[in-house]
Amino acid sequence: MGRVRLLFVAAAVGCAVAAQTVFQHTGTTLLLGGLPYFVPPTPVSQIDVLAYDVLALVDQNGGLSSGFVPISVIPSGNTEFGDSALAATVQAWKEKDDVWSEAFLKGECPWIYIAYNGSQDSPSVSLTDESKEGYGIQLALRAASYSGGVDLSSPLPSGPYFLDPLSGNVFEAYRLYDDENQAFLYSTIPDDSGGYEVLSAKVPGAATETIGVPSRLYFTPTPEHPLAGMRFAVKDIYDVQGLRTGCGNRAYWALYPPRTQTAPAVQRLLDSGLVLVGKTKSSQFANGEVATDDWVDLHAPYNPRGDGYQDGSSSSTGSGTAVAAYPWLDFAIGSDTGGSMRGPAGANGVFGNRPSHGAVSLDDVMPLSPALDTAGIFARDARAWTVAGHWWYQNFTAYSQFPQNILFPVDSFGSSYLTHPPADGTAAATFNNFIQKLEDFLRTTRTEMNLTSLWLETKPSNVSSPLSEMLNTTYPVLITTDQTSLLAEPFFADYAAAHEGRKPFVDPAPLTRWTYGWSLPASAHDEAIVNKTTFMDWFAREVVRGGDPNTCSEGIFLYPQSSGRTTYRNAYSGPPGTPFGFSSGRIAVFAETPDMVVPIGEAPYNSTITGKTEYLPVTLSFVAAKGCDLMLFSLFAALQDAGVISPVSTGSRVFGGS
Ligand SMILES: *[C@@H]1O[C@H](CO)[C@@H](O)[C@H](O)[C@H]1NC(C)=O
Ligand SMILES: *[C@@H]1O[C@H](CO)[C@@H](O)[C@H](O)[C@H]1NC(C)=O
Ligand SMILES: *[C@@H]1O[C@H](CO)[C@@H](O)[C@H](O)[C@H]1NC(C)=O
Ligand SMILES: *[C@@H]1O[C@H](CO)[C@@H](O)[C@H](O)[C@H]1NC(C)=O
Ligand SMILES: *[C@@H]1O[C@H](CO)[C@@H](O)[C@H](O)[C@H]1NC(C)=O
Ligand SMILES: *[C@@H]1O[C@H](CO)[C@@H](O)[C@H](O)[C@H]1NC(C)=O
Ligand SMILES: *[C@@H]1O[C@H](CO)[C@@H](O)[C@H](O)[C@H]1NC(C)=O
Repeated sequence: MGRVRLLFVAAAVGCAVAAQTVFQHTGTTLLLGGLPYFVPPTPVSQIDVLAYDVLALVDQNGGLSSGFVPISVIPSGNTEFGDSALAATVQAWKEKDDVWSEAFLKGECPWIYIAYNGSQDSPSVSLTDESKEGYGIQLALRAASYSGGVDLSSPLPSGPYFLDPLSGNVFEAYRLYDDENQAFLYSTIPDDSGGYEVLSAKVPGAATETIGVPSRLYFTPTPEHPLAGMRFAVKDIYDVQGLRTGCGNRAYWALYPPRTQTAPAVQRLLDSGLVLVGKTKSSQFANGEVATDDWVDLHAPYNPRGDGYQDGSSSSTGSGTAVAAYPWLDFAIGSDTGGSMRGPAGANGVFGNRPSHGAVSLDDVMPLSPALDTAGIFARDARAWTVAGHWWYQNFTAYSQFPQNILFPVDSFGSSYLTHPPADGTAAATFNNFIQKLEDFLRTTRTEMNLTSLWLETKPSNVSSPLSEMLNTTYPVLITTDQTSLLAEPFFADYAAAHEGRKPFVDPAPLTRWTYGWSLPASAHDEAIVNKTTFMDWFAREVVRGGDPNTCSEGIFLYPQSSGRTTYRNAYSGPPGTPFGFSSGRIAVFAETPDMVVPIGEAPYNSTITGKTEYLPVTLSFVAAKGCDLMLFSLFAALQDAGVISPVSTGSRVFGGS
């Protein structure tokens, strides 16, 4: 007892000096109307409490339990703000935003702040008592653009805020969401120095990560900021200033400090007005991992489709799953070296693309193989996806006309659905019906082609092997020789230096691949590049030519991406191997072309988990000539406008049961 007292005295002596360094405010979590919110530590504006006694007003109205007053900032150019203006605002905000809710006008002492921007000196708020009581509004403040107003230290965009009546500080409102599908590594909010920090909040009672999102009402899209207020998440292989990059490996995450700059590809998206809400899980070092047994360091995200226990593919698993699961998220970015965008887009039933190689800078992004690495974006809505694509891939030309040449492969490279058809053949019918609609839209008919025989007929004379042989080891040679030299070796050396010569833990999938890479002769990489280039040149010459002045690509090459087959996450899949072989998914990888995944339907299956019929996504891949990405984006927007494709829903069903 005595000792505690002594400590107390000692602490009190140092109080004035030490308080600032000991305490750091990390924000506040609270519930409003039953919904969880986060109040960040740093205010965005302030009401002058000396000129305007906010606290007295609060006390008059029975005091506060939370320490904050909810405020709705409503812009108005009208001299009078009445019931109908309030009703119209409530209606519009409910439709537009998930952060503001009517609870901001109800309950404990809620205020509205009319941000009056007109020229009259005597605007008035004329809410009837009925309207005030209906909402429980205690007070309507008005902006200071006239003599009777209440000033804010800096103007605020419309939307919900929290006011601390003691200090007059006004804070933004973040709605908190539970990452039920475990797609995220963590949530982010802007720090005070141009970067980001990890959100410190938690949804009360949640057992998984919490993601915070700011009100959409704070943002207004403009031509300079076309995606303002929309939200995105970033696969944890992209550097963001202030945050660590973990690449799906715990030792790697812990070893390297927070990054000091943001990858240019991410910065370009931030420049569009997009709001970064978190980092999503990557399978380890962006290598292929199958749920659940390959995922040793991280737990695999839960694909929401079907019974909720299907593999979400990899490596951009968290990004694909997050877009499929969460209506409050608009986009997530991932990467594709050998299928890491297209696999998760297919399994999770969302739009997702591998762009032409070189479409955006990959500086400050973890490498798998620089000759093959690309950056893609997941979305649920083709129109929004198109806007994001045109912004991100700014160096490509936009097109509004589309090719009339549809190519569909018939050999085994063509499809998983031909070699592994689902029991009832639904997916095959879905593909055929969709391609018929596409034929009608483009006023053309498909050309079926056999790549195997076309290659044998038209391959360069100095190559004798069939495609399946020339390209069998090309992919594993490139990724394993590149990733061992660019990542594994420096990582092992840095880790050993920091841990008295110890090795870091590495998941079985990347380790198996790296071991293969270390076994190869030094000449293998150059040989693989020759084979890749041979295929790329052939594909651009004999299969899909570019350079069309009106449509960029002379044709569109289609192949089935996912066909509703099950891969249960509770099934043991055996040890990981080296990804040998050639398939249609490798075409864009070697040919450097775009390959864009579009959800077109669902296939039923009898779930061993639920004992009921459930549905999994059916998706189609669209390949065009290199650099023709924006033509494909515009095609998808046009197809959505024409009702040939539709936005996808979140949750178990891709098309919401319709
Ligand atoms: C005033 O605010 C209203 C509502 O946001 C807006 O429609 C109007 O354009 C603004 N007027 C001026 C002069 O800024
Ligand atoms: C795209 O164009 C911008 C602006 O000209 C340039 O800064 C950037 O380096 C280019 N990016 C790529 C990947 O070529
Ligand atoms: C494609 O061509 C190869 C080589 O000529 C042939 O063996 C195969 O049967 C063909 N596939 C189909 C589906 O026609
Ligand atoms: C085949 O010849 C072309 C043109 O001379 C050359 O670029 C390519 O590397 C050669 N391919 C092989 C496998 O030797
Ligand atoms: C591909 O390479 C692996 C490993 O060398 C070999 O086992 C397999 O038979 C090869 N497949 C083809 C089609 O050449
Ligand atoms: C390159 O192609 C030749 C056949 O043309 C094949 O024997 C060799 O294994 C291939 N190597 C790689 C690394 O792709
Ligand atoms: C599900 O099981 C029922 C009963 O065995 C069968 O009739 C039906 O075809 C199955 N459905 C699918 C999609 O496999």
